[in-house]
Amino acid sequence: MLSTMSDADLDALAQKTEAEFADFRARGLKLDMTRGKPAPEQLDLSSEMLALPANRDFTTRDGEDARNYGGLQGLPEVRELFSEMVGAPASQIVVGENASLAMMHDCLVWAMLRGFSASPRPWSQEPQVSFLCPVPGYDRHFAICEEYGVRMIPVPLTGHGPDMDEVERLVADPSVKGMWCVPKYSNPSGDIYSEETIARLAAMKTGAPDFRLFWDNAYAVHHLTERRHEIADILQACADAGNPDRALIFASTSKVTLAGAGLALFGSSRANVAWYLDRAKRRTIGPDKLNQLRHVRFLRDAEGIARLMDGHRQLIAPKFAAVDEALTKYLDGLGIARWTQPAGGYFVSVDARPGTAKAVVALAREAGLALTPAGSTWPLGEDPDDSNLRIAPTYPSLEDVRVASTGIAICLLLAAIRDERTARAAA
Ligand SMILES: Cc1ncc(COP(=O)(O)O)c(C=O)c1O
Repeated sequence: MLSTMSDADLDALAQKTEAEFADFRARGLKLDMTRGKPAPEQLDLSSEMLALPANRDFTTRDGEDARNYGGLQGLPEVRELFSEMVGAPASQIVVGENASLAMMHDCLVWAMLRGFSASPRPWSQEPQVSFLCPVPGYDRHFAICEEYGVRMIPVPLTGHGPDMDEVERLVADPSVKGMWCVPKYSNPSGDIYSEETIARLAAMKTGAPDFRLFWDNAYAVHHLTERRHEIADILQACADAGNPDRALIFASTSKVTLAGAGLALFGSSRANVAWYLDRAKRRTIGPDKLNQLRHVRFLRDAEGIARLMDGHRQLIAPKFAAVDEALTKYLDGLGIARWTQPAGGYFVSVDARPGTAKAVVALAREAGLALTPAGSTWPLGEDPDDSNLRIAPTYPSLEDVRVASTGIAICLLLAAIRDERTARAAA
């Protein structure tokens, strides 16, 4: 343990680590571990799609011309294809454009401007609108709230979802209108919401009659091990608990097929789907149905999705293993950092020695390593412990991930050593 090391041992470790850092910096590298994007080889897994639908293959199962306007809810065959992944019946799914984030954004903005049927008034006319934000969380969720003046209340994650005692206490406040949830392989913590967590989220008593779970199942099929983790059916749980309209489910094929040209999906109760379509029909005459056909022709069925995701896993699991290996080699047993070994998703979450995350990012920058800014996993970029860091290992090559992870480990260690020495000098 760093904190119980003798001064002499600490000095020796400091000297060794400063030297390792100087060597690393001298390599003049330029590596980027900030981007939660698929690597080019992952996109190549779907390159066949670029030739689909084949020449003159534009007729849908119902005989519609996919080149034309219309089909606001999405082709039935596409909704059937993704029914299992979304966790909603095909009739309760809407296929959007390419980004599920846009559907989340629209739902929040429409709630602000129009409210839901159970809303006493549009959310923007409430004195205050608050959202619960499990932390660490996804910065783009927080950015949507920030943009529209939604107060964000952090709630700690436990490894199997948010701290539910805290959630149940906080939702009694009628200003709490919603909550962000990434229920499987959370960004960045890797949390998988337990059955109990989901049952409690579905059944909890809320102060707001129009409270909504923004259920962003972005990593529904993105397993990193052979075990395909399943979570409880949120729509069914909400219906069983007498809150049928509570959950708005979002998903996409951004990290299944093509991140810039996938399909976004929304699933919910019949009433919420009608609400969504009633707003969406003013926004568009219909989505890109050729892209929908392309996905049906390429993926075919749930097994086709699973097979493709196996291909992704084989490409990226070694990168996650490389991160773990480097952090373990440098930091194991020192008690200065904890990190996740996620079973799926796109990130490794690192809790650095409290008070050092910003210093770690600055050291990394000095050594040519770009890391996501410290604090970005917290609402408004404010991590009260200055501890959490998000590592995104999917995009760089395996060799680059190996090198970068060693660099990150050295920076985590060096920042902790410097902090410990400063503390001892002040004591
Ligand atoms: C939790 C989460 N939701 C949504 C997205 C973006 O989804 P989309 O590409 O469908 O907009 C990401 C991308 O990193 C994510 O991590």
